[in-house]
Amino acid sequence: MTGSGSPRVIAIDGPAGSGKSTVARAVADRLGLQYLDTGAMYRGVAHAVLREGIDPSDGAAVSEVARNVTLDVTRSHCMVDGEDASAAIRGPEVTGAVSAVAANPEVRGEMVARQRAWVVERGGGVMEGRDIGSVVFPDAELKVYLTASPEVRARRRAAEAPGVDVDSVAADIRRRDEADSSRAASPLVTADGARVLDTSDLTVDGVVDAIVGMLR
Ligand code: DC
Repeated sequence: MTGSGSPRVIAIDGPAGSGKSTVARAVADRLGLQYLDTGAMYRGVAHAVLREGIDPSDGAAVSEVARNVTLDVTRSHCMVDGEDASAAIRGPEVTGAVSAVAANPEVRGEMVARQRAWVVERGGGVMEGRDIGSVVFPDAELKVYLTASPEVRARRRAAEAPGVDVDSVAADIRRRDEADSSRAASPLVTADGARVLDTSDLTVDGVVDAIVGMLR
């Protein structure tokens, strides 16, 4: 997606708590690009699945939900079939169900098609997820894979959810890392050509500077 006339895409992938969301938003602001949290899309599907009382491991029923659901993910909101699910998609029920939903190849096919259409409509953007550089936009202008130590990632996630203890967040992160990395459909991998950046000891500004510097 480089060269004149092609959409400008910056792909930011990495595991939970690597700092993707904060960094991707800030990079989008610096570059004047739109931002898309693709994890919120998978969470939105998981929310619709639970709302309809469907078992997240029922592949056929979950695929049908993914094909039919109306998702509107903006910087601050996630609307699912017109309902504001911004808070619900961050809750424990959706967090517990989303790995199974995201492992479904038909769900992935549907979300990838919507993500590509999103870029075409906007002429580019900063996209964060797990498979943006490896599957959705392998020809992105820049592919970044963010990492951080498991301890730092658990602390960051716990800080976002007051009242939740670090040990239970760490256990949840380990479970999701394992599920996201070992699934057959588009596992979490470092894409060919991705720049790996360990954010454990960096400030947000430091990470954003490093990424913007990679473009020059
Ligand atoms: O980044 P997050 O925690 O909001 O992601 C939610 C889930 O969706 C997580 O289990 C990984 C999955 N996901 C994915 O499989 N592919 C993406 N592009 C983004 C998220």
